[in-house]
Amino acid sequence: MLFVLLIHTTVLLTITAQKNLTSSGQASQTGTLNANTNAINAIKPPISNTFQTGSTIYCTHTFGYDDPNPLPAWWMFEFSFESAYITDIQIYYREGQAIRMDGFELYVTNTSTIPPVGYLCYNDTDDGFPNIFQNISCNQLGKYVIYYDTKGSVESRNLGPIVELCYVAINGG
Ligand SMILES: *[C@@H]1O[C@H](CO)[C@@H](O)[C@H](O)[C@H]1NC(C)=O
Ligand SMILES: *[C@@H]1O[C@H](CO)[C@@H](O)[C@H](O)[C@H]1NC(C)=O
Ligand SMILES: *[C@@H]1O[C@H](CO)[C@@H](O)[C@H](O)[C@H]1NC(C)=O
Ligand SMILES: *[C@@H]1O[C@H](CO)[C@@H](O)[C@H](O)[C@H]1NC(C)=O
Repeated sequence: MLFVLLIHTTVLLTITAQKNLTSSGQASQTGTLNANTNAINAIKPPISNTFQTGSTIYCTHTFGYDDPNPLPAWWMFEFSFESAYITDIQIYYREGQAIRMDGFELYVTNTSTIPPVGYLCYNDTDDGFPNIFQNISCNQLGKYVIYYDTKGSVESRNLGPIVELCYVAINGG
């Protein structure tokens, strides 16, 4: 009885002890625009929506395969351990670019398969553009977090999907 109680308490403690999990693993993405916009930018401070100051870029930027052959764009974090219990994920997207964030999907999965196969934490289906700060609860066990975008945007021309993440916090235990 006491043993069961102890196990129960340990599990609760593990889950309630919120931690920033991005120190244990690695980030990757679809084609990088250039060497200053690597996937790792999303897990490095500053914690903001600011794209750059001077020539220093703080966000990720995927290459962007435009019409007529747009490709889905994604950013992925892979834990170095088997899996983690992910409670919630905060996303800071590039300021002024909610149009590119529109229609994004966020997953927790056990494989790196694209299109993602796993638990869909969030699907941006609303009319209008999303808020460039998102706090999404997942409460899932998994090895990967995948930000996935299949929706292009019409700006000065037709652009295929592009992902630009300035900061991503993955919290859990
Ligand atoms: C989260 O961890 C990453 C990787 O260690 C680190 O760069 C970042 O500063 C941490 N974020 C916070 C909010 O502590
Ligand atoms: C990942 O695998 C673990 C262990 O089998 C399972 O508990 C969890 O639900 C899986 N997560 C997803 C998102 O499928
Ligand atoms: C997300 O929503 C879009 C628009 O409603 C839909 O086309 C898409 O299939 C949804 N994604 C998933 C994985 O359900
Ligand atoms: C995000 O939401 C969780 C609850 O789902 C809350 O505990 C946390 O404080 C929120 N974080 C931010 C930065 O808003």
